[in-house]
Amino acid sequence: MTVRLANQPLDLIEADLRLEFLTQPQLENHPHRALLEQAGFKAEAEQLCTLHERRVMVCGIADTSSETLRSAMASAVKTAMGYNYASLKLAQYGEEAFSALIEGTVLGSYRFDAYKSDPKPSALAEVVFSNVNSDGSALDADALEKTLRDTLIITEATNFVRDLVNQTPYDMTPQGMAIAAETLAKNNGLECTILDPNGLEDEKMFAMLSVGRASVNPPRLIHLAYKPKNPKKTITLVGKGLTYDSGGLSLKAATSMVTMKMDKAGACAVMGMIKAISELGLEIEVHGFIGAVENMIGGNAYKPDDVLRAKNGKTIEVRNTDAEGRLVLADVLGYAQANVNADYLFDYATLTGACMVALGPYTTGVMGHNEELKRSFIDAGSAAGEYCGILPFNRHLKKLIKSDIADVCNVSSKPYGGAITAALFLDHFIDENMKDKWVHFDIAGSAYTESAWDVHTYGGTGAGVRMTLQWVLNNLA
Ligand code: BES
Ligand code: ZN
Ligand code: ZN
Repeated sequence: MTVRLANQPLDLIEADLRLEFLTQPQLENHPHRALLEQAGFKAEAEQLCTLHERRVMVCGIADTSSETLRSAMASAVKTAMGYNYASLKLAQYGEEAFSALIEGTVLGSYRFDAYKSDPKPSALAEVVFSNVNSDGSALDADALEKTLRDTLIITEATNFVRDLVNQTPYDMTPQGMAIAAETLAKNNGLECTILDPNGLEDEKMFAMLSVGRASVNPPRLIHLAYKPKNPKKTITLVGKGLTYDSGGLSLKAATSMVTMKMDKAGACAVMGMIKAISELGLEIEVHGFIGAVENMIGGNAYKPDDVLRAKNGKTIEVRNTDAEGRLVLADVLGYAQANVNADYLFDYATLTGACMVALGPYTTGVMGHNEELKRSFIDAGSAAGEYCGILPFNRHLKKLIKSDIADVCNVSSKPYGGAITAALFLDHFIDENMKDKWVHFDIAGSAYTESAWDVHTYGGTGAGVRMTLQWVLNNLA
């Protein structure tokens, strides 16, 4: 489906169907009010009504905020895809809302049918925006063009992430992740380095190696780099890439294991972000480090009671093999910091069920030492249409991951605050000079959904991508 801008008033644009967003007061004076009311339309939030004879589809909205319009646009485009119209046109709703409408269009029309033998095609081939507002005032066409270009890059990168996350653990093994990264590197002119288990051993990454040991699909460390000529800043992105998390010997219950192909979503998000930043051509050096591993059971599996030595030399007591993401990240964070001297270090991980307990299933947990930096992500998230919330560290929680036998334990001694104690575990692997430059994002709840919400359909959501791109544009570009 193409999304384009036509610098014409809406009436002059040729399209099969017109979409209008209406608040309740606007319904009062609407030319089709009688017809719409007869059809039961009340302009309630996201209520849709199509008058096919008039070639108009109306969508109720509570207000014209970006958040409302983004979600309403996603509902409208999904419904329009079920009709037999080839094109849909709509007006502008103020300059601020344009990116939200594009997000609604591209993210809302996403479908993943790679595993369907008879996928239902949609006739809707194009969505056309006028440069004129619904109230008749025109907007600056050049500014709209730039918004369209940038937003398409970011939303298409989000859908790229969703495609990766949605692939099965059979198709997307650690080696599959490495191939996907190499393909991205080739297409986008990135550098790509991959370490296999021998390379990981040379680097003394025994925490990550242990997690992957019982799998027939050996682990890979993936390093992608985007290096523009005159970078203003350097950022390092680290992603948890568990292509499957069975829990290991601390095996998950059958119902908790379903969906654990999504445990690679942090890694996929890192790939999507570097894709978008390179396509936007930003003057920022970006390094993406991914720990791609499968957590399985077997005669040689790592065990509760094992003590592992991570790349930075610290020892870790394993008490639960299902707390594997933090072990992988311990080594990948160590490797990333040893190889790149970055201005910022961000990690993305579907790390804890506890994060969902704390914040609900839609919100990313934001953790770290730098209060201002964390807050700047809350702002970026709300502008980009991602929910995030800060989970605060404290010194008492820090004590809960003390070990009697090693430097640190991979699980907390108390059952509460698990998202924070996981982040405090990661903190052991952040170098002193990086403490204030680091932010950890727990996307366990936000990265995947089994029921549609907002701009998301079943499957991967691409959590982290829009928020981080917005942060980069706000703070570095
Ligand atoms: N990948 C899971 C976390 C997760 C759970 C992500 C549900 C998405 C949905 C992680 O590896 C894990 O299993 N964490 C454990 C940690 C516990 C053993 C301390 C958890 O959250 O239960
Ligand atoms: Zn786990
Ligand atoms: Zn996991």
